[in-house]
Amino acid sequence: MGFFNTECPVRPERHYCIPPLDRVDFDEILELIDKDRHFVLNALRQTGKTSILLRSADRLNGTRECR
Ligand SMILES: Nc1ncnc2c1ncn2[C@@H]1O[C@H](COP(=O)(O)OP(=O)(O)OP(=O)(O)O)[C@@H](O)[C@H]1O
Ligand SMILES: [Mg+2]
Repeated sequence: MGFFNTECPVRPERHYCIPPLDRVDFDEILELIDKDRHFVLNALRQTGKTSILLRSADRLNGTRECR
């Protein structure tokens, strides 16, 4: 059973949360990576940046079908 995590990046398989990749335009991120472009994920503290990057890494590495 999941729980609300308030202490570290969310892991959707463990925590109740908004699917992290639903919060960004992942196709745009892929396009930037394909073009070797740099990008910045800029947002206020504790708004889910690291959660999004961890999920992006999972998706890019193909370790799981994930949102
Ligand atoms: N997708 C999400 N759905 C619901 N809550 C979330 C989500 N992503 C993050 N949170 C909440 O925000 C908290 C901080 O997440 P995270 O560490 O990813 O943010 P951050 O922007 O990297 O923080 P920091 O600015 O401290 O580096 C989590 O512990 C969780 O409570
Ligand atoms: Mg962070």
